[in-house]
Amino acid sequence: MNDDQARMYSRIKDVAKARNAIILAHNYQPAEIQDLADMCGDSLELSRKAAHTDADVIVFCGVHFMAETASILCPHKTVLLPRMDAGCLMADMITAEALAAKLATLPPMPVVTYVNSTADVKALSTVCCTSANVVQVVNSLPENEMLLTPDRNLAMYAASRTGKKIHIWEGYCPTHEWLRPEDVDQARAEHPGAVFIAHPECRPEILQMADVITSTSGMLRHAAQADEKEFIIGTEQGLLYPLRKANPDKQFYPASTRLICKNMKKIQASDVLRCLETMTGEVKVPEAIRVPALKAVELMISLKV
Ligand code: 13P
Ligand code: SF4
Repeated sequence: MNDDQARMYSRIKDVAKARNAIILAHNYQPAEIQDLADMCGDSLELSRKAAHTDADVIVFCGVHFMAETASILCPHKTVLLPRMDAGCLMADMITAEALAAKLATLPPMPVVTYVNSTADVKALSTVCCTSANVVQVVNSLPENEMLLTPDRNLAMYAASRTGKKIHIWEGYCPTHEWLRPEDVDQARAEHPGAVFIAHPECRPEILQMADVITSTSGMLRHAAQADEKEFIIGTEQGLLYPLRKANPDKQFYPASTRLICKNMKKIQASDVLRCLETMTGEVKVPEAIRVPALKAVELMISLKV
């Protein structure tokens, strides 16, 4: 870290303390953001932390739906997103209007919605899920038929693991969608014996090739506990930083060098400082949306899975 960065970090810490703010960062965030955050995690861990923090201000270093989820859970706290243009392309593949229209064509059934969605889509849903708990959430429902939005890959993964009839919404994460079987074959040829870990947002043919399928924090836990020393990582490249930092004796290789989410790379330390100093970039979900959305998010959190 150079002197300018050290000054910036120390200024951020001072302002955060003065505002009683907590800085949360997703595991895909740039290294400098992960280093200055109070906590890094996957979507489920960050939701739980937002629900239980005593801080007055939550600075969410991630994308817009994550800050919205924090606002849904903490209506009396100020939730700041340091870059308002950090969106999620998958979340943009469904709207509340389109979901309502789809539901009108189906018999009554529960709607399971991935947290990678806007608050108004959550508001029309029965329960939320994350990549870490989708199988348990689907199994927790008494019904055997449901709609899972917006990620078709996550829906197909959940169907294969639960045996339930899951209607699919044709959304996907463009970053994970990039990954092809040829990329995995090539990585395996270059690193024979390495464990291939894939995120459930990957295509079904990729998941069939995987030794382990799990969320970003699940990957961190697996790598730390495994006896193996080499891993091919099938998710966004930001995860390589915490994997390498926590496991200096192990080797981590990207399954493809194209797995980069531009939205997850937008926030810089200067954005965190600016939003804390000026208290700008607030994300606040209106009550009419927040209350029904909270039911779906709280049901997920209450399952403790
Ligand atoms: P998780 O960290 O919950 O696995 O989520 C991945 C993701 O795509 C978040 O945008
Ligand atoms: Fe959305 Fe994919 Fe980026 Fe995650 S990695 S924020 S799902 S576009």
